[in-house]
Amino acid sequence: MLHNININKMNQLMEENEDVKQIITQLLENHHTAVSTISHEIRNPLTLVSSSLQLVQSQHPEVKEFCNWKQIMEDIDFMRQLLEELSLFNNGNLLHYSVFSMEKLLKNIAISYAISLDEEDSDIELISSIPSDLGDFTGDRIKLEEVFLNLLRNAKDAVSANGFIRLSALRRDDLLIIKVEDNGCGIPKEHLQSIFEPFKTYKQGGTGLGLSLSLQIIKAHKGSIEVQSQLDKGTTFTIALPI
Ligand SMILES: Nc1ncnc2c1ncn2[C@@H]1O[C@H](COP(=O)(O)OP(=O)(O)OP(=O)(O)O)[C@@H](O)[C@H]1O
Ligand SMILES: [Mg+2]
Repeated sequence: MLHNININKMNQLMEENEDVKQIITQLLENHHTAVSTISHEIRNPLTLVSSSLQLVQSQHPEVKEFCNWKQIMEDIDFMRQLLEELSLFNNGNLLHYSVFSMEKLLKNIAISYAISLDEEDSDIELISSIPSDLGDFTGDRIKLEEVFLNLLRNAKDAVSANGFIRLSALRRDDLLIIKVEDNGCGIPKEHLQSIFEPFKTYKQGGTGLGLSLSLQIIKAHKGSIEVQSQLDKGTTFTIALPI
């Protein structure tokens, strides 16, 4: 995995030297092919898991009564669609529009996320405040779900025991405002400028792609994403999406 690559420097080298440009272009193409192949291969067993669960459901309809069943099926479907996107190597700018309920999307994410926190026995509390007047939204549901999950995952990495994460939304005029707030470690001032750059990570094992992809997706929806942070107090990411 490439870390902390200076993209500007790479672009400059590509402009200056035709050979370098050809080599980097070839490397990027190889990288795209590898990502497509891997995601395609993961999609196959996932399809098997999904079919087996469908079979269980048809033979034992009572499983639908199990409180997490619907969520499991929806999460598997989300993974399948995500892998499909990756295998086609669609980037953040390429949107697949549909009309969907932002309330339902955010509530589903909150439920899955709360379940995953529970399973990890973490002391982190998820507080969600999602009103029912958000209305329909036209956008790329899968990519927006990716954005919200990226922000929630970052929040979880930032908070320690007894922390909280708040996911909230509201409609203001022609904008949907979605906030992910945490009371975690905060972001040092000197890092704030660079966290949206690709491959910029300050975490062990991070790829530094989460925020840059998220920004790309939000911009493709003609929206904005802002961050406010105070060291040792917490961080708030605010997304504004035009309706
Ligand atoms: N809620 C947050 N609290 C504190 N720091 C944050 C928060 N969100 C992001 N950051 C900082 O921004 C950096 C970039 O985040 P980004 O999501 O792009 O990459 P990552 O989380 O490091 O890796 P990846 O998401 O690819 O696994 C993080 O390494 C972290 O330092
Ligand atoms: Mg991240």
